[in-house]
Amino acid sequence: MSVRFTRALVRKPPASVAKGLRAVDRGAPSYEGIAAEHAAYVAALERAGLRVETLPPLDLLPDSLFVEDPALVFPEGAILLRPGAPSRAREAEALRAELAKRFAALVVLPGPGTVDGGDVLTLGDRVLIGLSERTDEAGARALAAALPAFGKRAEIVRTPPGVLHLKTDCAPLGEAAVLTTARLAASGIFDGLEVQIVPEGEEPAANALRLNDHILVAEGYPRTAALLEKTGCTVTALPTAQIAKIDAGLSCLSLRWAD
Ligand code: GLY
Repeated sequence: MSVRFTRALVRKPPASVAKGLRAVDRGAPSYEGIAAEHAAYVAALERAGLRVETLPPLDLLPDSLFVEDPALVFPEGAILLRPGAPSRAREAEALRAELAKRFAALVVLPGPGTVDGGDVLTLGDRVLIGLSERTDEAGARALAAALPAFGKRAEIVRTPPGVLHLKTDCAPLGEAAVLTTARLAASGIFDGLEVQIVPEGEEPAANALRLNDHILVAEGYPRTAALLEKTGCTVTALPTAQIAKIDAGLSCLSLRWAD
């Protein structure tokens, strides 16, 4: 299931987190602010029923709290990805031993291509891989070749221009249901699915996170929260103003799976 989870892995923000990558400078985030947002996030994962394990901070890797980008996990095993930003390339190696302890199978994505986990959307057996500034054709093809061993089939799609990651603009709400932006829906990649579109002006809320019968959404987007309430799930609005300054959202802060 795309939205049933029992476990999560997160990494504490490093003291260097204010140096995290960003496309547009909206001012430096504060370490204390990010630590508080991270703590609220972990508490929300636990309220949704997940057992959360927290890895120690890595000061040499400012973006390393965004653990979803260097790996892709399924109940059957994990794939170490190849993050596309040079400053993030070593994050995968830093996760290797932790994933090996927790998963029966660990596949290392072969080079030379790159894939960020933020560009990978799992919908049941179907995995959409979005080409972006971080995920290139060679990386997407290598990941597509690795996925059948996990019972998944890949489709290579395009992350909208100017959007960091595919999941910046969408989130699974079920195996055949997504929350997304009008611009991504217009590409046709979700045709045939149940599609909820975030109201105009609330595009950052598309990076929501459904976990069992809970949905986490960034605070400050009341019309999206109201839309999500209609699913019958418990909707929790979380502070993200500080992580948003380094182009991050709710999905990239954890790896989640069902054991
Ligand atoms: N700061 C998140 C990223 O750019 O990967």
